[in-house]
Amino acid sequence: MNYRHAFHAGNYGDVFKHTLLVQLLRALQRKEKGFLYLDTHAGRGAYDLSAPPAPAGQSRPPEWPQGIGRLWDAADLPPPLADYVALVRAFNERAGAGRGRLRYYPGSPWFAALARRPQDRLAFWERQPDEAGALRTEFARRRRVTVECGDGYGALRAALPPPERRALVLIDPPFEDQGEFDAVLGALREGLQRFPSGVYVVWYPVTERARAEAFHAALRALAPPPTLGVELAVTADPQVRMKGCGLLVINPPWRFADELQPLLPVLAGKLGIDAGAAARCAWLVPET
Ligand SMILES: C[S@@+](CC[C@H](N)C(=O)[O-])C[C@H]1O[C@@H](n2cnc3c(N)ncnc32)[C@H](O)[C@@H]1O
Repeated sequence: MNYRHAFHAGNYGDVFKHTLLVQLLRALQRKEKGFLYLDTHAGRGAYDLSAPPAPAGQSRPPEWPQGIGRLWDAADLPPPLADYVALVRAFNERAGAGRGRLRYYPGSPWFAALARRPQDRLAFWERQPDEAGALRTEFARRRRVTVECGDGYGALRAALPPPERRALVLIDPPFEDQGEFDAVLGALREGLQRFPSGVYVVWYPVTERARAEAFHAALRALAPPPTLGVELAVTADPQVRMKGCGLLVINPPWRFADELQPLLPVLAGKLGIDAGAAARCAWLVPET
């Protein structure tokens, strides 16, 4: 497996995923009771955007300028995007980037750690030993944080149901091969059997419309609780392989769908490449 998230850190897919992740964490925090944040494919936790994006000899432009790079100095952002950028700024200051400078990008574990309250518990799983080692270093000696080097799909069996009886589970695989969609569905089936009231969030790439529709249909066949589908397209250009990405949210918190509405056109406007850019949100399995 060659995937390294460092090549993609801070790209439009990360901006989309992490902005919504922060909003979900905030929404769960409206209740005082603590919860488990389980990150099944956590990555290394922190990325240096000044490091070369590709191994020596390979030409590969960095992706972050078309992601966080477009928001860093933007004025008049709606509150969810301003909240997200403020966390990236706080992370840079903490890491010593220098005043107002964008140098580091936090992975999903750090977004959760920056947003957490003392009563919230964080569990990170990462299969690549190097990445898991870096993640362990990031979170060494932090209270109520665990890092496991292992198969994140197995994390749902190991960690659910949580003693807190509240959980937000992020499933964010690399999708290096098409079999990943089936692995996600298998993990969701097991997670929902073990803990039906959890909030499950799955990020996926949109390369072909038909593949995304088939994924949605297979998800519906699991008869899950209410599920929201949120998608961002950055282009309709057939030459571009990854035209957008999506996030499935099973058991979204109350009013989350309504709160997304004003954010979606801004995300499409800021992150779009051409006139094919759009963002939308629809119930795959409606609330009853
Ligand atoms: C898209 S990246 C994760 C990014 C991270 N969630 C973030 O938002 O910052 C996917 C990660 O999953 C890891 N990975 C791949 N297969 C895995 C598996 N079966 N279990 C756990 N981690 C896996 C990869 O090494 C990679 O670091």
